[in-house]
Amino acid sequence: MYYSDDIIEEVRMKNDIVDVISGYVRLQKKGNSYFGLCPFHNEKSPSFSVSRQKQMYYCFGCGAGGNVFTFLMEYENFSFQEAVKALADRAGVALPEEEYTGEARRRADLKAALLEVNKLAAKYYYTQLRQPQGSAGLKYLRDRQLSDDMLRAFGLGYSNKYSDDLYQYLKGKGYKDDILAKAGLISYDERQGVYDKFWNRVMFPIMDVNSRVIGFGGRVMGDAKPKYLNSPETAIFDKSRNLYGLNRARRSKKPYFLLCEGYMDVISLHQAGFDNAVASLGTALTEGHASLIGRYVHEVYLTYDSDDAGTRAALRALPILRDTGITAKIIRMEPYKDPDEFIKNLGADAFEDRIAKARNGFLYSLEVLRKDYDMDSPEGKTDFMKEAARRLAQFSEEIERNNYIEAVAKEYRAGYEELKKLVVNMAVQAGMARPAKRPKSGQNSSRGREDGGRMSQRILLTWLIEDEGIFNQISKYITPEDFSEGIFRTVARLLYEQYERGGVNPAQIMNHFTDEEEHREVASLFHTKIRELSTAQEREKALKETVIRVKNYSIEQAGKDWDVADIEGMQKLMKAKSDLQNLHKLHISVN
Ligand code: GTP
Ligand code: MN
Repeated sequence: MYYSDDIIEEVRMKNDIVDVISGYVRLQKKGNSYFGLCPFHNEKSPSFSVSRQKQMYYCFGCGAGGNVFTFLMEYENFSFQEAVKALADRAGVALPEEEYTGEARRRADLKAALLEVNKLAAKYYYTQLRQPQGSAGLKYLRDRQLSDDMLRAFGLGYSNKYSDDLYQYLKGKGYKDDILAKAGLISYDERQGVYDKFWNRVMFPIMDVNSRVIGFGGRVMGDAKPKYLNSPETAIFDKSRNLYGLNRARRSKKPYFLLCEGYMDVISLHQAGFDNAVASLGTALTEGHASLIGRYVHEVYLTYDSDDAGTRAALRALPILRDTGITAKIIRMEPYKDPDEFIKNLGADAFEDRIAKARNGFLYSLEVLRKDYDMDSPEGKTDFMKEAARRLAQFSEEIERNNYIEAVAKEYRAGYEELKKLVVNMAVQAGMARPAKRPKSGQNSSRGREDGGRMSQRILLTWLIEDEGIFNQISKYITPEDFSEGIFRTVARLLYEQYERGGVNPAQIMNHFTDEEEHREVASLFHTKIRELSTAQEREKALKETVIRVKNYSIEQAGKDWDVADIEGMQKLMKAKSDLQNLHKLHISVN
């Protein structure tokens, strides 16, 4: 952390979370909290809550949550320091000069410099496209039927015919070769000296979610090879964690993304009104992409090219999306090559129609598979059904698996029961699952108990910040050591310290963590859904049970690690057990 805890806390306190978030999300007061539509996933009814009392937000739909810093980190994609800076500005708090360590300072400086130089380059290309020397580029883009609005929206440009045009321009602005090379904008060889990476191409600036230029794609204006040149990966350009068009698609009202292959496809789709189109950056879809997508939508329609390469790429993308919990459907573009050509020939309505007729990803993958088998011969069909069964066995949820078995049985005219048997056999063979009637006992139930123990800890943490009266009653019995190691225990320790100093402040606890994922986790600890119980008596009983469960689990865990030679540990354990006995007699009063 580069700023002191005090200054971070001052900035946080001077930025009321309800006020800040109101600038982004329309909030309505309901009881103690404010509710609105979650900006981090698409939804129709509000599950995004902001609490003035806790100074935290939490979405009961997607689990996004944190304090006012987290919100800016998630919404604006700011780093923690950037969020602190923005909010300090907002509240008029003067920040001290940052105290970076040498290495962190160098990296931050490099990133800032790369963003700056990319922005200048993008502006330069943009201007060139609109000058006489850019007329060939402009003609090319207009011939491809792109509107002026789209050229502007996507910041398209042109790199001149001269091979060191941009270099001379940026050098004139005082940039050193070193930084231009690190930005991937120039190359060097002994024969030619320094020359521009891009020349005589139409330029597609590649932007991150916050519309900052992080790299470029440059297309030749004819059939020469290579068709596209892309910036190399740099300190700010990670191809597997960015998507073309996401800066616009994230604002779309539609609850799904259209995922395509090319920059031109994205622009064409946006122009036709499909403002939810994105593309990967000339690479295959990665887990990084999938988790990025998952922050905005839970459904994706793949509109890859109709050729073999496109089909293969779509099939490879399916499991990656599924593993991230994203439902994928496939849209075919036949008889056209890609969405761009499809729209040009058949128009937006026909595309909309294809969306409506999109194929389920799994069934589509079987359709493709089928082509490899001779379905007219019994052997061929059997082999095909075996392979289908092997794939069906990979659905871990029974209902889902059965639904698919039913769909496949119907489509390929096989008996449901026979296919189901085959699937179970395949699962057993592969050791992936046990036959349904003999669930493996040991592993699952101990896992269930662990989840139960941690769940009780969550409930208790939420309870502790919602009802300040219970701390004094339970702190005799439950200490931070009773919480599981890691985030749970750290949060409990900080909370206990706050209580001992006389004031609970959950949002401040978050300042101790700088990672978005940790913020989410902490926010979720403070937002466990506690069953609505109407009478005080019921609440007291529930709380008492929770306390006992936390203690019980803690004793169980301690017992596991206990070493016979550890007398002190043994004494502790004995004490804990007697505490547990007392707990059963405990009377807690709650609000
Ligand atoms: P048009 O042919 O102009 O319609 O472009 P497109 O956007 O439809 O591209 P295409 O479907 O041919 O390729 C998809 C994506 O792959 C492009 O947007 C690029 O990101 C990348 N790509 C295509 N060709 C090349 C190439 O020659 N080199 C590199 N590095 N990337 C390429
Ligand atoms: Mn194309």
